[in-house]
Amino acid sequence: MDAIRVTGNGPLSGQIPIAGAKNACLTLMPATLLSEEPLTLTNSPRLSDIKTMKLLLESLGSEVTLMNDGQVIAASSHDVNNLTADYDIVRKMRASNLVLGPLLAREGRAVVSLPGGCAIGARPMDLHISALEALGAEIELKDGYLHADAKGRLKGAVHEMRFASVGATENFLMAASLAKGTSVLKNAAREPEIVDLVQCLRKMGAQIEGEGTSEITIQGVDRLGGATHRVVTDRIELGTYMLAPVIAGGEVELLGGRISLVQAFVDKLHAAGVDVTETENGLLVKNKGERLQAVDVTTEVFPGFPTDLQAQMMAALCTANGTSVLEETIFENRFMHAPELMRMGAKIEVQGGTAKVTGVERLKGAPVMATDLRASVSLILAGLAAEGETVVNRVYHLDRGYEKLEEKLAAVGAKVERIAGE
Ligand code: UD1
Repeated sequence: MDAIRVTGNGPLSGQIPIAGAKNACLTLMPATLLSEEPLTLTNSPRLSDIKTMKLLLESLGSEVTLMNDGQVIAASSHDVNNLTADYDIVRKMRASNLVLGPLLAREGRAVVSLPGGCAIGARPMDLHISALEALGAEIELKDGYLHADAKGRLKGAVHEMRFASVGATENFLMAASLAKGTSVLKNAAREPEIVDLVQCLRKMGAQIEGEGTSEITIQGVDRLGGATHRVVTDRIELGTYMLAPVIAGGEVELLGGRISLVQAFVDKLHAAGVDVTETENGLLVKNKGERLQAVDVTTEVFPGFPTDLQAQMMAALCTANGTSVLEETIFENRFMHAPELMRMGAKIEVQGGTAKVTGVERLKGAPVMATDLRASVSLILAGLAAEGETVVNRVYHLDRGYEKLEEKLAAVGAKVERIAGE
């Protein structure tokens, strides 16, 4: 299995282009199931998760072609001929559950395996199930599969979620777009990826209002058409690379970045003493050469601090001046990077959902193990400023979420290379 070797190499300088958002693309792709006409996505990221979603859609009868080195996805679902999302594909990626709403809305039935994905908590499906049940679906769990039946056509309804789940909001939106009548989703998720999905659905003919707020109204239509849509910038890839100069020193411009995508994160960087400014082409992050100040961070749903940037922020705070308290409120098991960072000399105490990080002057390179997607990249970031060599093993998670990581970091002067690992 591949490993990544990082050698601490001093300040970085240059530009890093930010790709289209993995999490937006993974919900836009299943939207093809809602229409017989073609859906074209541009600015799509080149990631293994995208290939997994392609395989899943193809297994249902969609045609999916990756063009322009994977940056354009042409999907067409004129003939959906299988309504079962198989365990073998779904277990690789939790976002596979996003075919449930569209299949149910278009075909009236769907059988979807319970998902896998990162090992960062229980990640149940109850919010998806109750959202789709509100639209009239009957859903039963049999042999590890959810068997869903719309009993004809889904019916518009008012539904309030107990928690603003991203995936459940997406499934509800796609399903309600083809339901009979009006639906209102209360306590909806507000993430930029949801706004992106709605903008694409609207191009396909959906009638939706309120995206980006916690109440979304959907007027169901009889059919949806084709569309061409540009995938929104990946705010998690953006935030991750913003931390590269913060950790290693220097000045890096993140092309395509906007502060509004990562406001809560930028607020914390400012509080820690980092300079972030908007430029004509993106965001410029400067580390003035001083040690970062400790800051406390609590993960929250958007517009709060994203859970998907918590591990990377922890890597940065390991060498801050003072003690930072990081609280994880979205996933219950998301500090698996902490023991690995401690192998590099970090001082971290984890208790339940809270991690206390006391900054040390410098980390030391070590062999470490990637445990999930964001944890893997946090170890690479930590390695950028560590003394000596850090080898991050089991990096297959990384390929799920970061395209051309070695190239992007090498372009700003980091010494990062892929090697054959254990
Ligand atoms: C999405 C993102 C993921 C990100 C997460 C939170 C994609 C493909 N993935 O995941 O990168 O970390 O949002 O920002 O977009 N929950 C339930 N019942 C449910 C569904 C979720 O209890 O039916 C819980 C989960 O266990 C978790 C929390 O809600 O603790 C957040 O999950 P959710 O917002 O649904 O995240 P995902 O859509 O899976």
